[in-house]
Amino acid sequence: MKLLVTGGAGFIGSNFILYWMKEHPQDVIVNFDKLTYAGNLENLKEVEKNPKYSFVQGDICDPVSVDKAMKEVDVVVHFAAETHVDRSITGPAVFVMTNVVGTQVLLDAAVKNAVKRFHHVSTDEVFGSLELTDTSKFSERTNYSPRSPYSASKAGSDHLVRSYFTTYGLPITITNCSNNFGPYMFPEKLIALAITNVLEDKKIPIYGDGLYVRDWLYVEDHARAIDAVLQKGKVGETYLVGGMTDLIPNVEIAKKILKILGKDESNIEFVKDRPGHDRKYDVDWSKIKRELGWEPEHGFDEYLEKTVEWYKTHEQWWKRVKSGEYEDYYKKQYES
Ligand code: NAD
Ligand code: TYD
Repeated sequence: MKLLVTGGAGFIGSNFILYWMKEHPQDVIVNFDKLTYAGNLENLKEVEKNPKYSFVQGDICDPVSVDKAMKEVDVVVHFAAETHVDRSITGPAVFVMTNVVGTQVLLDAAVKNAVKRFHHVSTDEVFGSLELTDTSKFSERTNYSPRSPYSASKAGSDHLVRSYFTTYGLPITITNCSNNFGPYMFPEKLIALAITNVLEDKKIPIYGDGLYVRDWLYVEDHARAIDAVLQKGKVGETYLVGGMTDLIPNVEIAKKILKILGKDESNIEFVKDRPGHDRKYDVDWSKIKRELGWEPEHGFDEYLEKTVEWYKTHEQWWKRVKSGEYEDYYKKQYES
């Protein structure tokens, strides 16, 4: 089988490729990635010489290179996106271009080249925000209610993907998953930012009151979920994917990281809140468990410790990532 993985040089895409090549060594993988600030081929060092793996630098908004890359592809796994909510607040245009227009360009090429499956990787953020007091969770039946330019652009892409199923019969599946953590997580997102800041003797910036809640999913569990959907999922269906956390507020995550690294809580700094900050995400993953037998296997505390350990032993990786453009971004985001 030949897979075209878009955004394979990013955090989740690279973990997915490493996972897939271990679990399905007979398959051929083409990684199609523009290499924006978030794309990093170092993540894929251990497979770059494998003859079953190849890399194409390209933009999903460019129909010519997308069509070329789609030739003889059986399965598309679409990760490529602009993904950081804070960046979507300061510069939404590129989010619409990549996440909406880029997805549409890929869908056209998938129809033209008759791919057997187009799997779209999306987010629980399309469902909006829960209150801390809500006992309900997001499910496949929840209405879309995105509240940031990032989540609105992902919502647009989800609707387009479904429309290509009903209009053109493209065999699609969608997963909407919660916040991922693990190796190669870009240090603009909370857990990687917090760990690397502490390792650099900097404080952990916590937005607002710190009582915001995310449903954290270990990245390998996410790769396993996509695998289950590709093998056993029903065409046209959406599956929600979530983690093993029990409603842990951001400030508690910061405390856990400080404890693992032997530092005290004075290293937390409460900073200006994010505009329109979604209070809580919580995912009901019972459909994918019931229908495909998937459930998360990596407990939060144990894998948070392992993730901290990974950053301790991969200092060169994150130090390189946290230089150049990142320094300007950090200044604008946190020091203004
Ligand atoms: P990331 O920002 O780490 O990586 C995105 C990748 O896409 C990068 O390699 C980048 O170079 C590439 N890319 C960006 N624009 C491109 C373009 N125009 N053409 C080709 N490649 C392009 O993202 P991530 O955190 O790995 O997220 C991957 C997917 O999972 C996204 O679709 C995101 O919406 C979704 N998702 C992420 C999370 C999370 O917690 N990170 C949670 C739910 C869903
Ligand atoms: P983030 O990792 O940006 O993911 P998302 O906004 O897509 O859920 O943020 C996770 C949570 O952490 C969110 O509630 C915002 C908060 N946060 C901070 O408190 N400080 C930070 O420096 C960052 C980046 C996020």
